[in-house]
Amino acid sequence: MTVTDEPVAIDDEVLRRLPKVELHCHLEGSIRAATLVELAATHGIPLPTTDHDALYRYPDLAGFLVVYETACSALRTAADFARVTYEALEDAVLSSNVRYREMFFNPTLHPGTPYPVMLEGILDGIRAAERDHGITTRLIPSIYRQDPVASALELVATVAEHRDDHVVGIGMDGDELADPPERFVAVYRAAAAIGLHRSAHVAHDGPASMIETCLDDLGCERVDHGYHVVDDPSLVSRLRDAGTTFLCATPTPPLCGWSDVFDESPVRRMIEAGLRVTLNSDDPPMLHTDLGTEFVKVCNGWRLTPERTKQLVTDAIDAAWCDPTERAALARSITPELDRMLGLSPG
Ligand code: ADE
Ligand code: ZN
Repeated sequence: MTVTDEPVAIDDEVLRRLPKVELHCHLEGSIRAATLVELAATHGIPLPTTDHDALYRYPDLAGFLVVYETACSALRTAADFARVTYEALEDAVLSSNVRYREMFFNPTLHPGTPYPVMLEGILDGIRAAERDHGITTRLIPSIYRQDPVASALELVATVAEHRDDHVVGIGMDGDELADPPERFVAVYRAAAAIGLHRSAHVAHDGPASMIETCLDDLGCERVDHGYHVVDDPSLVSRLRDAGTTFLCATPTPPLCGWSDVFDESPVRRMIEAGLRVTLNSDDPPMLHTDLGTEFVKVCNGWRLTPERTKQLVTDAIDAAWCDPTERAALARSITPELDRMLGLSPG
């Protein structure tokens, strides 16, 4: 049973405090508005406004990406990267009790900063957050799909040259309707050849067929978003049987083609169809949310049972790209807490 007839099954605060694993979150979409205003002033980057409330408002996805790219350009030094990484991880722990997180970052959107410099800063932030808040983090450099294929290939070569155990995979974000995934087949092949895991943002706005491209041609192991799967019942059956993991996020930049009535979210239909869905915050301050809030909205808004709520977390543990020993340790530490907090008997 996925949903219950009980009016509200689980206390909001319990949902916020549940230990969580988050697999889809953008570093540059996680910059506190106040921090972005400060960094932009330091580096002389003009912002459309310095008003913290107005900065993260957009008319549409294109408007969102303009602000996102501006936020990227305000990160210059290793210290900048360390600061925003630490703050993003601290926010995830304090708001939502995230224990393990995989974060995308867009190396090609920081042209003045060499990859090793940004990586050094991000790793400093990760270590400090692990020391102070106990959170474990892995990184996914993301191809910006508006980039030329040649620069995406160069990105994979750079990742290979500066290999670090924290960097576990490759992703792809940006405006998918403008640049469909098949352009990047050679880049994904190169990423596979150096042992990186692979995923891509697809079928958020584009057609369900993009999911097949992502899995069958790019060789992705997980699907980021993938909401238009609901338009294709045979693909739903195929991916339910295959146990494909979807990294979903209910907050979206406005006007991206979906109803803004929460109950009509495709994520609800995906859960009800039995797909393997995980919840994620994507760009938390930029989209005015955090993972705890997403759990409250989804689990109580759609009246998920405690068992289905637990599965949102355990499916994320199973799909994490850390090594198997670490994944097993994560499961051992989190599962008993989930059982206790959700009133479930172990097992
Ligand atoms: N990059 C960062 N956040 C994104 C989003 N919500 N959609 C597309 N690309 C992104
Ligand atoms: Zn995303």
